[in-house]
Amino acid sequence: MADDDGKSSRSGSDRNFDDLKNLFQERIYGTIKGNYRFDMTLSDIDKELEYSPKDSNLTALDVGGGLGQVTMSLGRNQLFSKVYYYDISSEMKCHVDQMIQKERENQTERREEHPRVSTIVTRVGGLREAIADIEQDQDEKNRTQFGPDLVCLHAVLEWLSNPMEDLKLLLDFMKPGSILSLLYYNTIAPKSSKPRRKPRKPSKLKPYHEFNHVKIEAILAENGFEITRRTGLRVRKFQRDGSEKEMNKYLEEERKIARVEPYCRQGRYNHIVAVKKTDTYE
Ligand SMILES: C[S@@+](CC[C@H](N)C(=O)[O-])C[C@H]1O[C@@H](n2cnc3c(N)ncnc32)[C@H](O)[C@@H]1O
Repeated sequence: MADDDGKSSRSGSDRNFDDLKNLFQERIYGTIKGNYRFDMTLSDIDKELEYSPKDSNLTALDVGGGLGQVTMSLGRNQLFSKVYYYDISSEMKCHVDQMIQKERENQTERREEHPRVSTIVTRVGGLREAIADIEQDQDEKNRTQFGPDLVCLHAVLEWLSNPMEDLKLLLDFMKPGSILSLLYYNTIAPKSSKPRRKPRKPSKLKPYHEFNHVKIEAILAENGFEITRRTGLRVRKFQRDGSEKEMNKYLEEERKIARVEPYCRQGRYNHIVAVKKTDTYE
């Protein structure tokens, strides 16, 4: 496991989820935990966009979009005229293409003329390719006006071989006024429970790195970003066996405090929404 500034004893390449797609789908997608994470991050984004005019024609980039829930949701949102999905996993990209295809077919059956999801562009590629492609797409235009209005980096940073380098690259690429939605694996205080007799088998879904929220927030500030929202997704109690009713009750309570200090910085995953200040552009 990593130390808390994102460095790790692991070296090598970013984690491609080709072989983890099914496990990820089973353990996260559609589970109470996964739905909670999705709802909370999406509602932070919605709140941030609340006052955008309907004809905003926004562009979004979902880097490491995985199974594509965020991409699909943005694709259905009338505010966006283009949504880029990138993932280094072709299995993940293929899953998203199938979802888009299915939604188009359903819309055709319902005789809707302009399926919203047609605004989605899916590509197999990493964060660096996404930046290069989008820069190339808009090569001739004024640098201050191009680039996505919203960049989502959800649960990806902790799987990169050089997370801080890549994060800085992304922050630098973003245009003034654009919004970053960053979900990252946060360092949390160790549990004060009795040591286990039998050590648990490390999960394949255990990220390479974890990050200290103070450092993450400092990097955002140093790169000219202002944090507008913080949400702490605490999951400890999820891990205990409990009935669905108990879990839902727990989540109801958790929802009420997730955006309040100090809980908003204490999640196993923290979600930050940050806006690039307009006066930092040279
Ligand atoms: C834990 S999943 C998160 C998926 C999705 N963002 C979510 O929140 O459910 C991490 C994803 O990042 C992808 N990934 C890893 N390194 C990447 C990189 N350098 N560029 C783009 N995607 C990457 C993996 O293939 C995987 O699909």
